[in-house]
Amino acid sequence: MGFATDAIHIGQEPDPATGAIIVPIYQTSTFVQEELGKHKGYEYARTSNPTRAALERNLARLEGGAAGFAFASGMAAANAVMTLLKAGDHVVAGHNLYGGTYRLFERVLGDFGLSFSYVNTCRPDGVEAALRPNTRLIFIETPTNPVMEITDIAAVARIARSHGILLAVDNTFMSPYLQRPLDHGADIVIHSTTKYLNGHSDGVGGAVIVNDAALAERLRFIQNAAGAVLGPFDSWLVLRGVKTLALRMEQHSRNGLAVAEYLERHPRVKTVHYPGLRSHPQHELAQRQMRGPGGMLSFETGSLENAKAVLKSVRLCSLAESLGGVETLISHPASMTHASVPPERRRQLGITDGLVRLSVGIEDVDDLIADLDQALAAIT
Ligand SMILES: Cc1ncc(COP(=O)(O)O)c(C=O)c1O
Repeated sequence: MGFATDAIHIGQEPDPATGAIIVPIYQTSTFVQEELGKHKGYEYARTSNPTRAALERNLARLEGGAAGFAFASGMAAANAVMTLLKAGDHVVAGHNLYGGTYRLFERVLGDFGLSFSYVNTCRPDGVEAALRPNTRLIFIETPTNPVMEITDIAAVARIARSHGILLAVDNTFMSPYLQRPLDHGADIVIHSTTKYLNGHSDGVGGAVIVNDAALAERLRFIQNAAGAVLGPFDSWLVLRGVKTLALRMEQHSRNGLAVAEYLERHPRVKTVHYPGLRSHPQHELAQRQMRGPGGMLSFETGSLENAKAVLKSVRLCSLAESLGGVETLISHPASMTHASVPPERRRQLGITDGLVRLSVGIEDVDDLIADLDQALAAIT
């Protein structure tokens, strides 16, 4: 079946007890057993819950994986993946990961004996050069936040495979509709479902999807043993969200491209970072690896004062952290999402004080452009 059909139907068969077309929210902590050892497949809701199980089946199919696991947040999902490792193991990670992931690595997992090297994963030879005899995992995001650099997943997967190392890809920015890392040879896909999968800015959650049976078994064990599971109501919200994922991602991509083209023409905008533009240095790779350019972009206003003027003047775009909802969000990476990154490192990554990030929503694009137009006019 096609992606949109799977999104609506996989894991979401009518409820066998009542015929309800929507998977019920099984708001229960435990399940009554008929007799010792005889039950209907569910014993205790941390181990397994039917609403969460429906979402896990659905997400596994959408990513082209064999098994999915839903967690309490994107960070809980990433943390579960990292507990596949042991003290003494080394990880090669992208140099521009989501700040919370970098914080988890540096300020939590370092204390448990893991070590990390951060490299520009856009250059696969740099990834290979950073490998050590104890490297067990390569962890990447593509595109990166907020400058939208793209890593060739297949090229990095080949390196990982030839050295017997796992490759994990945080696919939050794209969603499985626009990019399926397992198809390109990755071993593990991670999501903050808080973003495009939920799509409506009304829940925090995370997911991990894998193909390999041994990895799946270990993650199932970790999910139950560590217990950072997604609750039934939040699982249900994501299940509802994914039904419109294909439609939403098409519209995010259409609106994203129209806004990026408008910004690129604007005399007060110095640069636009968007993989759908021909001016993007990896436009060709983006077209090969992604089904569409998505709704994330950033643009350079030239100074902190200019960025502040734009952020203060928008009326339709909302100034807020997060991304991937139906409504357009605007933010200032240097002082918001990337405030914990030291200024020198931010400069190296191109995260200047004048950079503004947009999560382009699915409103009427003319309204978005009109809003940005009047906000950019505030730059003196
Ligand atoms: C790319 C990426 N990965 C992971 C996360 C963490 O997800 P959560 O906030 O659901 O814990 C975020 C959050 O912004 C993100 O942008």
